[in-house]
Amino acid sequence: MTDQIAVQDLTLEEAAEELARLAEVIAGHDRAYHTEDAPKISDAEYDALRQRNREIEARFPELVRGDSPEARVGAPPSETFAKVRHAVPMLSLGNAFSDEDVTEFAARVRRFLSLKEDEALAITAEPKIDGLSLSLRYEGGRLVQAATRGDGAEGENVTANARTVDDIPTSLKGDPPEVFEVRGEVYMTHADFAALNEAQAEKGAKVFANPRNAAAGSLRQLDSSITRERPLRFFAYAWGEVSDLPAATQTEAVGLLASYGFETNPLMQVFDTTEGLLAHYHAIEERRATLGYDIDGVVYKVDRLDWQARLGFRSREPRWAIAHKFSAEKAVTRLNAIEIQVGRTGKLTPVARLEPVTVGGVVVSNATLHNADYIAGIGNDGQPIREGRDLRRGDWVTVQRAGDVIPQIVDVDISRRDNPEPYQFPEKCPECGSHAVREAGEADTRCTGGLICPAQAVERLRHFVSRLAFDIEGLGEKQVRAFWDLGWVREPADIFTLEARFGPDGTGLQKLSKLEGWGEKSATNLFRAIDERREIALERLIFALGIRHVGETTAKLLARGYGSWAAFAAAMERAGEEGEAREHLLNIDGVGKVLADALAEFFAEPHNRDLVARLLEHVTPLEAERPAAAADSPVAGKTVVFTGTLERMSRAEAKARAESLGAKVSGSVSAKTDIVVAGPGAGSKLTKAEQLGIQVMDEESWLNLIEEK
Ligand code: IVH
Repeated sequence: MTDQIAVQDLTLEEAAEELARLAEVIAGHDRAYHTEDAPKISDAEYDALRQRNREIEARFPELVRGDSPEARVGAPPSETFAKVRHAVPMLSLGNAFSDEDVTEFAARVRRFLSLKEDEALAITAEPKIDGLSLSLRYEGGRLVQAATRGDGAEGENVTANARTVDDIPTSLKGDPPEVFEVRGEVYMTHADFAALNEAQAEKGAKVFANPRNAAAGSLRQLDSSITRERPLRFFAYAWGEVSDLPAATQTEAVGLLASYGFETNPLMQVFDTTEGLLAHYHAIEERRATLGYDIDGVVYKVDRLDWQARLGFRSREPRWAIAHKFSAEKAVTRLNAIEIQVGRTGKLTPVARLEPVTVGGVVVSNATLHNADYIAGIGNDGQPIREGRDLRRGDWVTVQRAGDVIPQIVDVDISRRDNPEPYQFPEKCPECGSHAVREAGEADTRCTGGLICPAQAVERLRHFVSRLAFDIEGLGEKQVRAFWDLGWVREPADIFTLEARFGPDGTGLQKLSKLEGWGEKSATNLFRAIDERREIALERLIFALGIRHVGETTAKLLARGYGSWAAFAAAMERAGEEGEAREHLLNIDGVGKVLADALAEFFAEPHNRDLVARLLEHVTPLEAERPAAAADSPVAGKTVVFTGTLERMSRAEAKARAESLGAKVSGSVSAKTDIVVAGPGAGSKLTKAEQLGIQVMDEESWLNLIEEK
């Protein structure tokens, strides 16, 4: 928790590392809480971890992990849908991983059917859609039931939700069989997925790891009005119970599905040779990145339905079909552009903008390119990477998620290159036009613009108005940038003089109302939102300054530790030298040397002090909550365990109150426990405390101890 970097400031790599760490830490706390019944941190600390994880995921959707804590939230909806027994089981498919496996599949089928050498075996090939399978039962041409696959024998009844999906007809066209179970895949396109996640992130709601999870989460909603809002689609490719199917081949049957009003996949084709199948497989793999939806392989099916019937099933897999999977961790896609991001410190980081592609279950649209050498094909150690091949705009590249999460470009296909121009790393900062220099022996290129470079300033302003800082409604990233470009807001204080600067007679309002995207109402609202922040919680102010390593949690600790801005600022100005001020700072739980130095450096810089002084002409920091009580309290820093029944307050209240006085509340007794508060009915925890010689008191004595005098 110490030295936590603000989410806004995380680089792609740092974010990936942080998400990995949070996944592990949160899983550990979940275990401690649920399984071991012995939480190790307070609810507030736990919530802060979850919140940080959510914020990082919202900012870097491509880094959302398969084991994300968010993915594990809540009870599985399977408990809440009625069960449906499938009239014909929904089976899975065997897998082929290589061309040889496919040759072997065809040979197996030929052997099973004892086909003569010259007898043709027609097999279809079509994309394997990465969604979730659904069985739709039609009676008399009307949709009567929709069920998920479940375990194959029994699924969940999601009829109400299926009815909201545009691609799923509620009544069939033409003259369908009396009973007809259509099977296929529910999925979401990349574009719809991206828009959904963006909207979710804006609402502060859960973001999905990949289109498949988003489709599954959307279909399995208890409230079908939510499903209706979600852009789900459906491809039909198979069937279950059918009263009478007027088709002799897979191809004809799929043609019927289309004639009844279903979407069928346009890439399905039928071949007489294995070579044909494999060529189609590779053609589909090449097009994978540009299809606009996720597929994870190609499915081959014996075309003749009478042969399918003869081949039948082995355990849960048909002998007449197989899935030829793509390798999961790598994918080929197009490098659409190389963009340069300028960080708060002026570092120019090249970022690859990719045609979105799924790699190991996650949609990747960006990859870090680190620095100029990396693009040129030179590694950190000066050795060639990608066998020395450089990267250019328009290249077809192989993307990999290394170490599970960081998307990387591991190879480039020179044979498909049509761009004759090697990439030129900019010599000027794309943000301010200042020279960008690369010092001898350094890998990074930096903008020399310093204070005049808007990238740094805008980044700082964005942080200043962000949700955990000043949280000014109506002043988001876009507006900050626009106001910067207009020269209206160049530093935090400018926000608070915005209205007044254009004249006290409302000309500010008029001027802003004329700006694109602004009306009188939104302008009035903005000025009101700004006014609401003229008083600000101390911890928010400290966080808003964007001091290196000062995250939300650290800001809180500092605010509680000093109580007022005056005390904090005075102490920080002296925190650079050995002495009482530095000692006090280091004594705050969670503050280490790195953080202390960062704080001291910030306050040693005159222009930082001036900037804050100008801000404080318009903004009044509030005193932090109960700083004195926490510091002076007899239980500050103590670890307390409550056990048995409390009579004067609830467990939750007891815990909250103890924590506000600086105590740590734990669920289990150990040698580290300082006090056990035991009520009637206390059992093993009390026994253990007595064995360990820990101070035990009843509720009354506890209240006497903490009663504020
Ligand atoms: S045919 C009896 N065709 O893959 C086999 N399945 O791994 C019926 N899938 O549960 C399935 N695209 O959810 C078939 N074009 C396709 C498919 C497909 C995706 C899924 C389906 C199935 C799973 C098996």
